[in-house]
Amino acid sequence: MRIVLDSVGLTYDRGLPTARSGLGGVSLSIGAGDAVAIMGPTGSGKTTLLEIAAGLVAPTTGSASLDEAEDGASLKSRVGLVYQFPELQFFEETVFDEVAYGLRAARIGEDEVVRRVHAALDRVRLKPSSFVERSPLTLSAGEQRRAAIAALVVLERPFLLLDEPSAGLDPRTRDRILELIHREREAGRAILLVTHDPELAEETVDRIVVLSSGSIVADGSPADVFGDAGLLERLGLEAPPAHELVNALSRRDPAVARDVASVVLGRPALRDGVSNDRF
Ligand SMILES: Nc1ncnc2c1ncn2[C@@H]1O[C@H](COP(=O)(O)OP(=O)(O)O)[C@@H](O)[C@H]1O
Ligand SMILES: [Mg+2]
Repeated sequence: MRIVLDSVGLTYDRGLPTARSGLGGVSLSIGAGDAVAIMGPTGSGKTTLLEIAAGLVAPTTGSASLDEAEDGASLKSRVGLVYQFPELQFFEETVFDEVAYGLRAARIGEDEVVRRVHAALDRVRLKPSSFVERSPLTLSAGEQRRAAIAALVVLERPFLLLDEPSAGLDPRTRDRILELIHREREAGRAILLVTHDPELAEETVDRIVVLSSGSIVADGSPADVFGDAGLLERLGLEAPPAHELVNALSRRDPAVARDVASVVLGRPALRDGVSNDRF
């Protein structure tokens, strides 16, 4: 099963004087088990891309589809999108009802609902017995975020899309989100993660797609993207500290930077094109 975006573009307020481009023709394919981060400056189209990939917004040009899927499967039914600040959308009186909402809407039997809600709360490290009866509004910010994420992971859809899941949170909650992404990957789910946190990206995905002004400007491994000092500088993006160090050094002394990279990034050190394995 794959999410296939073929030259998708979206113009907001099409035909009006306020028309503006949200995305300018992006092609991207995400298969089962892939883990991809989308990075880029504010306004570069990251959220628009997620909404199109989740089948929630139709592109104005190009197409978004679910390929190699069983009959009747749609993007909407196979992709779960956790919006940025999802806790702002709480509307149920208890954490249980909040997390159960999507399952009940899908007419899942109540026994199964109970089992899956408890399992989802366990997965985000909220102890079910302590939280099911609580009002979502009384939780701490980190607990709210995790409960809101549980409301999506409970659906167990094969694609999990997360829009800046660690934004505005303490380091401990961020680490729990990191851990959750690892577990969801182990369970076989594909991840599409929008984040400004370079370490979260490096620790959870194999591929980073960089957007700028609605277009893809880079697509590669975390090592490739975070090693491209020019790209990071042009877009005002940060790299994890070890990459920042190597990038800063390579401006001053490329040979030293390569040696440092081999130690702090585990890259093979090359000198004059010859591997120094033999030393
Ligand atoms: N509902 C909307 N109406 C009009 N313009 C929008 C709307 N949502 C986003 N945009 C515009 O589309 C562009 C991409 O936005 P967005 O996808 O939210 O970017 P990002 O998530 O990378 O910050 C921006 O120029 C933004 O102002
Ligand atoms: Mg956004």
